[in-house]
Amino acid sequence: MRKIFRNNAQGIVDALTKIIAKKGRGTRILEKINLANPKWGARDRNLVHSATYEILRWKSYYRFLSTAEDATDEAEKPWKLLGVWLVLNEVEIPEWDEFKNLDVALIKAKQKEKVTPEISKSIPLWLYERGKAELSKEWNIELDALNIEAKLILRVNRIVTSPKKLQEDLMTLFQIETHLIKGYEDALILNQRKNLRKNPLYLKGSFEIQDANSQKIAPFTQAKPGMKIIDGCAGAGGKTLHLASLMRNKGEIIALDVEIDKLKELSRRARRNKVKAIKNTWVPDPQYKESLTNWADRVLIDAPCSGLGTLKRNPELKWRLTEERISEVIELQRAILLEQSKWVKAGGKLIYVTCSILPSENQNQIAWFLEQEEGAAFVLEKEEMLFSHQTQFDGFYAARLIRKVVNNIPKTV
Ligand SMILES: C[S@@+](CC[C@H](N)C(=O)[O-])C[C@H]1O[C@@H](n2cnc3c(N)ncnc32)[C@H](O)[C@@H]1O
Repeated sequence: MRKIFRNNAQGIVDALTKIIAKKGRGTRILEKINLANPKWGARDRNLVHSATYEILRWKSYYRFLSTAEDATDEAEKPWKLLGVWLVLNEVEIPEWDEFKNLDVALIKAKQKEKVTPEISKSIPLWLYERGKAELSKEWNIELDALNIEAKLILRVNRIVTSPKKLQEDLMTLFQIETHLIKGYEDALILNQRKNLRKNPLYLKGSFEIQDANSQKIAPFTQAKPGMKIIDGCAGAGGKTLHLASLMRNKGEIIALDVEIDKLKELSRRARRNKVKAIKNTWVPDPQYKESLTNWADRVLIDAPCSGLGTLKRNPELKWRLTEERISEVIELQRAILLEQSKWVKAGGKLIYVTCSILPSENQNQIAWFLEQEEGAAFVLEKEEMLFSHQTQFDGFYAARLIRKVVNNIPKTV
């Protein structure tokens, strides 16, 4: 039987406490916990990472199996959840105080009980019902797919290297095995999870870490060398950098966001990626926004959203999301569509994207936009729904709209 060391268990409990109670970001908290434990090897880090995420993913099911809900002391709850994880993963139960009341027989008996779908799929009841109302039968299959841990995927930066060359370099220089994914031109999957952020090939910009379906978005914009492109919700630039790579560094990209810290991170990543096409990163003021009217060949709106398509990688999201937050992002998405669509020139294209799988953030938003005065200037060229159960990667929605040219006179809003 496998064993768990005290400092690994403590790491998992600390991570859960900070992520659940203090609402921290999972990846950042785990990075800090790794830094605080410099003696940990890859095995320790992988164990703490995978157990923390598995417990977050299955939290309500684990609660059902354990007596975590009965714990009066908040500090006890993560230990109870960890206890369930130990039992389900056949790890020897250590003789520590925290596990003295752990009832292995009860957990095993409860596993045989029939439970309601929101428990078996481990999701808040309101969210289960909302997804069911919006997606009908597809919701249950999608939830199953979103409950499977995400693979680690690289996006090859073609400004620096090629997929074949990177694959060879990773293997010969670092004995890291990867494989290509059919239908995803720039993607490599790692056969084994590894932290690559200190790898020399990463540091010299040969690749970024980016989900495979997220890598479908930049090609969907039909970006070409020499174009003028606005990435209107650029964040830290996952898709901006990919656009620059597809444009072979020729052309002009303006990257906008409301959060300056994300744009600073984008600039750092652009330097590492040897990207020169990003001309401006900006938290735009009204005057600057005005100057963008009818400017762009492409405007990409990678809109703020519920993030429900990314539960594989961010299971903590489902416990934080609220109905109010979904309503807020729907309003924000509409405001951004109305504002940023003005920046597309006649014959140019507007690309609206979310990493949500809910029609209310996706197809319904585009239908709504096309009925507005601003939207009447566009026609829908293509829309795509990428579900996790069909692709095994994150859930994404993308729509591409063309601004009409009327009698050779650009139709402006
Ligand atoms: C889905 S994230 C973008 C992810 C990014 N494109 C990437 O590929 O890494 C949405 C972004 O929209 C930004 N945002 C929110 N409200 C905005 C607004 N009114 N205008 C522009 N960006 C906004 C958020 O700060 C967030 O970075």
